[in-house]
Amino acid sequence: MIDAAEAQGSLEAVLKDEIIRMYEEVADNPDHEFHFYHGRDAAERFGYLPEWLDWAPAGAVESFAGVGNPHERSDLQSGETVLDLGSGAGLDAIIASRQVGPTGKVIGVDLNPSMCLKAQTHAAATGTSMECHEGRMEEIPLPDDSVDVIISNGVINLSFRKRKVVEEMFRVLRPGGRISITDIVSAKQLSQSIVNDPKLWAS
Ligand SMILES: C[S@@+](CC[C@H](N)C(=O)[O-])C[C@H]1O[C@@H](n2cnc3c(N)ncnc32)[C@H](O)[C@@H]1O
Repeated sequence: MIDAAEAQGSLEAVLKDEIIRMYEEVADNPDHEFHFYHGRDAAERFGYLPEWLDWAPAGAVESFAGVGNPHERSDLQSGETVLDLGSGAGLDAIIASRQVGPTGKVIGVDLNPSMCLKAQTHAAATGTSMECHEGRMEEIPLPDDSVDVIISNGVINLSFRKRKVVEEMFRVLRPGGRISITDIVSAKQLSQSIVNDPKLWAS
């Protein structure tokens, strides 16, 4: 007999594989059709400034996959340390790097090491830097009280353990720190056919 924790563990493993496949596909083949907004069209739709998109490397812009604009309210200041949860191909982290400047720091966390590599390569191409840690937002690989601001774009909805993600965010955030995230919530209970479909959950 499989207990509830085991069942959740195996669903989480299936979901992790699907998330890795889905976002690698956006990064490697951004011209393919996806049933979510992505690339420059999506960023413009969400109000990203054209100057950010012209300055960022084409690869980061084409592979952008988000659901809104976390920069609208992040109010990043020079010298701040920013964590981008689920940094993907790096567009949000690169925009944050530009805002905190050379005295600041941007740290990405992504469960997929190849996305981390892509994001760091894209950041380096702009002359800014970010460090990206392979890891999960449910166990953020950073010490307590270590970041000033957390940004994230369309990632927390992908988690099976959202409460744990929020606890982890407050653990790593310094007292008085800020969170600016854009994400998806549903006002209606989703049907089991949606909840049980890893492809739909992963997107
Ligand atoms: C919607 S994209 C984020 C887009 C990104 N901010 C950008 O600038 O294009 C989702 C990213 O979150 C990562 N991700 C999904 N679940 C995660 C988890 N549990 N922990 C860490 N990263 C996760 C995926 O690997 C993927 O790269």
